[in-house]
Amino acid sequence: MPTRPSITLRPFHEADTAFFTGLATDERVTRFVGDGRPWAPQAIQDRLRAALQQQPVEQGGAVRWFIAEEEGEAVGLVVTTRCDAGVEIGYWVSPQHWGRGVAGAMVDLAVATVPDVYGRVRLIAWAAPANTASTRLLTRRGFELEASQDGLDRYVLAHTQ
Ligand SMILES: CC(C)(COP(=O)(O)OP(=O)(O)OC[C@H]1O[C@@H](n2cnc3c(N)ncnc32)[C@H](O)[C@@H]1OP(=O)(O)O)[C@@H](O)C(=O)NCCC(=O)NCCS
Repeated sequence: MPTRPSITLRPFHEADTAFFTGLATDERVTRFVGDGRPWAPQAIQDRLRAALQQQPVEQGGAVRWFIAEEEGEAVGLVVTTRCDAGVEIGYWVSPQHWGRGVAGAMVDLAVATVPDVYGRVRLIAWAAPANTASTRLLTRRGFELEASQDGLDRYVLAHTQ
């Protein structure tokens, strides 16, 4: 049996810009994100600015990003965003680390961390139905399919604690 990866989450810093840019410009990573294409430099800049701004977490649109590390190396990114219905989470793993349970560990840590940051909220995740690894890891963790919109499924975890 493969061992579970030992993953930690820490806040995203400006020094993580190159890691984020590498993910956002990798078509394997963006395939099921946004319009499916690698991100343009302006989009990367806009998202980075929002992530580093540290808008108060009570405000709609406030974001907090986290870097997932394994043995001191960045292997993934967790994105959390305050929305009307709760907090949306997104998760990206470097392709060389896919299929080892990294995303599963990241989502477990995000479920534990989000209440510390935002309080007790509903957790929401959007996934393309064809993104099998994503939909599988959500349903395995108790997220329920709530609705579909614009080709994406909206999963909700009602209680984070
Ligand atoms: C989706 C993504 C996060 C999965 O990361 P990962 O670290 O490979 O996922 P895990 O290894 O934790 O696997 C999650 C589950 O999917 C399964 N899985 C992994 N790869 C799979 C594949 N290609 N097909 C089917 N199932 C797969 C795993 O077996 C696991 O299920 P289990 O818990 O029942 O064993 C990763 O592919 C990625 O970063 N994709 C690009 C960004 C993205 O689409 N993010 C999600 C939308 S925000």
